[in-house]
Amino acid sequence: MAKSRRRLSTSSSRRRLPAGAAAPRTVVLRAPTRAADLVRAGQLVAFPTETVYGLGALAQDAAAIGRLFRAKGRPSDNPLIVHIADREQLPTVVRRVPAAAAALMAAFWPGPLTLVLPRARAIPDAVTAGLDSVGVRLPNHPVALAFLRAVAAPVAAPSANRSGRPSPTRWQDVLADLDGRIAGVLRGAPSQVGLESTVVDCRGRTPVVLRPGAITLEQLRTVVAGVRPYAPRAGGAARSPGLRHRHYAPNAQVVLVDDLRRVPADATAGGIGRRAPVAPEQFGRIRTCRSVAAYARAVFAFFRACDAAGLRTVYCERVPDVGLGAALMDRLRRAAAR
Ligand code: TXA
Ligand code: MG
Repeated sequence: MAKSRRRLSTSSSRRRLPAGAAAPRTVVLRAPTRAADLVRAGQLVAFPTETVYGLGALAQDAAAIGRLFRAKGRPSDNPLIVHIADREQLPTVVRRVPAAAAALMAAFWPGPLTLVLPRARAIPDAVTAGLDSVGVRLPNHPVALAFLRAVAAPVAAPSANRSGRPSPTRWQDVLADLDGRIAGVLRGAPSQVGLESTVVDCRGRTPVVLRPGAITLEQLRTVVAGVRPYAPRAGGAARSPGLRHRHYAPNAQVVLVDDLRRVPADATAGGIGRRAPVAPEQFGRIRTCRSVAAYARAVFAFFRACDAAGLRTVYCERVPDVGLGAALMDRLRRAAAR
């Protein structure tokens, strides 16, 4: 059942509405079936997954996909990932499953792994930005799976943030970005991984990692020995269109550091990492993480909290560039790039 919620914020668009006009309103939902009904009716609904919250629309409904790009302010050349509830839905999304892709699915689905494969006809151009390929993912999250099963059709879902903002790892972050712009948000716990899925292009002879994530290069290689990280050729076109766009960034300037203990105290700065600064109380906000996994889980919400506090700088400690650390470093480097 739809449940009315407290007003968390007053959006400026709401204040500009003419007197007497009904304010657009995003409903916080607890029932996956209710969220599925809205999506089946062509609406946009955010839902939790193990990586980050996604913003779902019927993959086969080009008009709904158009609304999704507008709600996020997403460039139309950045393709969406299609989410499925089970492998029976695959033939409506992809034309062909090469052997390497089948092996990766068997090992890591359901899970934080997106495979780029030849696109099936039923998937409209709007989803794939006109590409002949499509990204597909079977998530490992009970609420996401209940929702996808109830939709009973493939659901296209980018991360449920305004384009360029950090991905949302909590339902409240979805509302902060999209309140009034989408029909609903299906409420769940904070995302356990906190970084977006690993994206692997499986169309060539050897699979290529386009975006590192929680399924690490090391893990992928235990199943398909030849998996390569993506190495852009100088002047070559980006293999994954999303890699061209700026991502994951707070309004504050992100600065990467080796050791938070060596950063001079600054009340207008936040800091996140494995270590604590010498005088944490002299910073605007500090988050010390017990592990790389805890750091990955916390980082996007930390960026949002620093923005909400009006901080100017966010110091982020580097981590070793291996395993999940490679995915975290990828996001940190992008956030720091201006
Ligand atoms: O964990 C995730 O992947 C989350 C949850 C909601 O599943 N979704 C997500 O979607 O992060 P999004 O739209 O924020 O990122 C999708 C990435 C982009 O970098 C996009 O360029 C890439 O996947 N991608 C999608 N389809 C592609 C394709 N056909 N070829 C190459 N890259 C593709
Ligand atoms: Mg995204």
